[in-house]
Amino acid sequence: MCGIVGFTGTQQAAPVLLTGLKRLEYRGYDSAGIAVQHEGKILTEKCSGYLENLNRITDNGKNVPGFCGIGHTRWATHGAPTVTNAHPHVSNDGHFAVVHNGIIENYALLRAELMEKGFVFHSETDTEVVVHLLDLYYTGSLKQAVMKTVARLEGSYALGVVCDEHPGELIAVKSASPLILGVGAGENFFASDVTALIGHTRTVIYLEDGEFASLTPEKITVYDCGGRELQKPLSRVMWNTEAAEKGGYEHFMLKEIMEQPRALKATIEPRVKNGEIVLEGFQLSDEELQGINQIVITACGSAYHAGYVGRYIMEELCRIPVRAELASELRYSNPIINEHTLVIVISQSGETADTIAALKECKARGARTLAIVNVVGSTVAKLADSVLYTWAGPEIAVATTKGYTTQIAILDLLAVYMGHRLGRVEEGRYAALVEGICALPERCQRAIDLNTQAAALAEAFHDKPSLFYIGRNLDYAVCMEASLKLKEISYIHSEAYAAGELKHGTIALIDEEQLVVALACHRPLFEKLISNVKEVKARGAQVLAVAQESERRIFAEADQVLLVPECDALLLPIPEIIPLQLFAYYVAKFNGCDIDKPKNLAKSVTVE
Ligand code: AGP
Repeated sequence: MCGIVGFTGTQQAAPVLLTGLKRLEYRGYDSAGIAVQHEGKILTEKCSGYLENLNRITDNGKNVPGFCGIGHTRWATHGAPTVTNAHPHVSNDGHFAVVHNGIIENYALLRAELMEKGFVFHSETDTEVVVHLLDLYYTGSLKQAVMKTVARLEGSYALGVVCDEHPGELIAVKSASPLILGVGAGENFFASDVTALIGHTRTVIYLEDGEFASLTPEKITVYDCGGRELQKPLSRVMWNTEAAEKGGYEHFMLKEIMEQPRALKATIEPRVKNGEIVLEGFQLSDEELQGINQIVITACGSAYHAGYVGRYIMEELCRIPVRAELASELRYSNPIINEHTLVIVISQSGETADTIAALKECKARGARTLAIVNVVGSTVAKLADSVLYTWAGPEIAVATTKGYTTQIAILDLLAVYMGHRLGRVEEGRYAALVEGICALPERCQRAIDLNTQAAALAEAFHDKPSLFYIGRNLDYAVCMEASLKLKEISYIHSEAYAAGELKHGTIALIDEEQLVVALACHRPLFEKLISNVKEVKARGAQVLAVAQESERRIFAEADQVLLVPECDALLLPIPEIIPLQLFAYYVAKFNGCDIDKPKNLAKSVTVE
């Protein structure tokens, strides 16, 4: 998704803007630009493609003078990734420049109205209506022009604005898209997320939807939508620069796979005190808890896959009906959700449009909502009644790894906590599960250590045209994530399939060309899974099995094996996904793919 940055201070703005945009690259983009105030004018430089093009034409920003400006990386939604469509967009008279992340839903009507009034449009974008509205409403007060402009907009937007008649001043506006203010000494910033700020400051202000701010080098003033000044608290970002760097690994994805033990510790340890699970962010009275008669877990992509794992665990321990729903489906399905429904919304970024919309839909139907989110202060976190942060640290690779496993860890904690409070998990089982959860970081490290051969197996199979991932129960839930990991970074087609379903049609596709990855960790159904392995082998398929390290029988059945350390059956999905993350990573590596920034993908899908 798009990234926006703004800077005002006493150092040259353009280099600061370009390094800020560099830190937002992982959000996915296909054009970029900056606009800087200088001697009563606004200097604008834009490019299609990646930032190196902008760095080349501006000599890394050195040949763009000025101390106050805005920047943008655009992930095309309306209009192709061309220079004309790249942001910033400039008003016809050159007095205003705007950068935008989000979608102006009513842009067509506004465009027609503005063209009627004589404004000339140069781009195909929705954003351009904003800069012409500012021009239309400006009569000397930038604040008033912004308020009148924003009042006309429908949709989602994080805006950055500069005006040549207000030297040194930036305007930042937030509505449904992420935007954070950075507080410096004699300089101030805004950005789509903290990774663009932490090289300069760790003191930030989180804007709420509907708020906007004026930033000068000396001062930040925040206003509500009515223009009333607000006193906003300062927050401290604990993420430091190296946490958002690669840490010596070739790719962010490998770094983030390897840091999962540490991430899981950060997720779990603060929530287990003296053998008891403590969930500060989730306050339900016993009566409210007893009043829940269904749980709906909703998310997109890998977050949905984490939710699908959680569905099995929560239903097993809480004995309440639990279903996992794709947010993009739930939001339009007229769901049966009411005040007796607990809706758990999962999102690493907290800015996924479909997930936000599904959350709003469930709230409107009276549900109690709980968010499981990694990014502090994100939209999902603020919209939900309660939030449990995963505290996984910044996840830069587009393909999530620690985001997924820490989401499952929260679901594990929640399922055991709720099951115990509902009296459906007896003391001995509770203690064993709490102990098992606390051991997950170490189990995850062992899963990494057990699979040093993942790279060799990936090399052996990296040219397979298509793969099937098959499993039953929790193994099937893990298949979903394993399959997506392979597809999104290696561009090889794969499919997650309930092993028991193969004979109902799909087995017709199995032949000697196929590689079938058989997840056989769920012991209660191990024999059933082995039968499925025999079925596909009888039709010529090669089988790469994933099994617990004590399950020696698997070696007689499969061609190759990835091993998973022993742990409680309900807690296996976290160590089980590790070798499959590594397998996908090395397949993509051998295929020379752009692992951290896969084609067509964005880290956070903030538009429908
Ligand atoms: C996962 O590797 C993908 N990048 C994608 O499926 C992602 O999980 C999905 O877009 C949801 O993102 P969120 O967790 O930030 O809401």
